[in-house]
Amino acid sequence: MSLLDKIDKNRLPAHVAIIMDGNGRWAKARGLGRGEGHREGVNAIRRVVEAASKASVQYLTLYAFSTENWNRPTEEVKGLMDLMVYAISRETPDLKKNGVRIRSIGDMDRLPAYARTALGECIRETAEGTGLTLVLALSYSSKWELSTAARNMAADVVKGVLEEEDIDEETFAGYLTTRDIPDPDLLIRTGGEQRISNFLLWQCAYAEFYFTGTFWPDFGDDALYEAIIEYQGRERRYGKTSDQIER
Ligand code: FPP
Repeated sequence: MSLLDKIDKNRLPAHVAIIMDGNGRWAKARGLGRGEGHREGVNAIRRVVEAASKASVQYLTLYAFSTENWNRPTEEVKGLMDLMVYAISRETPDLKKNGVRIRSIGDMDRLPAYARTALGECIRETAEGTGLTLVLALSYSSKWELSTAARNMAADVVKGVLEEEDIDEETFAGYLTTRDIPDPDLLIRTGGEQRISNFLLWQCAYAEFYFTGTFWPDFGDDALYEAIIEYQGRERRYGKTSDQIER
């Protein structure tokens, strides 16, 4: 029985979010440059997108580039942007064929124009996809997202289009870049670190966390399915008691 067959199709996580970590260490362990690690990381993205589609996951969010990653050496930042543009341009026809819809979250204004254009094209080309929605978090951080939401809400209160007393959890969520995306059910982090690194802080309020030492370039279909199977063994209580959940 394959791991895919062991997944309970009635209890799938609708949204899996992944902090892809360990590209640099994967490369170093092989005496290669960090760029090689990122290139191999793209192959892992391809495998995981295919695997998530096969398992009928609806949303897959990948933390591809954080706000803090802008502080990496210029050469590495440029290499990552070029790699992203190359990968999405190359993969768009296949994504389209497989019904995968691309979205992005993050501060797109900070991306170089050529990267914004390539990403925009891929989003437009795949907009009709009815299968997996692949959300690329690029130039993203939760603190950026939350402070932007607060600023936009304040501006709308000043303009009179939002009443201060109407600001509740639902209104707040409507000002986030994820406004029409369900919250992640399962958050996976590869590469051995056990932290959330400014990723989907609001949205992960009730996500199940899964940490693995596997470096991202070594992650693949079975590794994703193992995480989903472990998730399905957890009891999600949302603050209630076990007895209340069973009823
Ligand atoms: C983490 O490893 C990885 C990243 C910061 C970049 C991930 C991005 C890609 C694989 C390319 C993006 C492409 C598309 C199509 C979205 P790390 O460098 O932090 O590894 P380390 O912790 O071992 O140094």
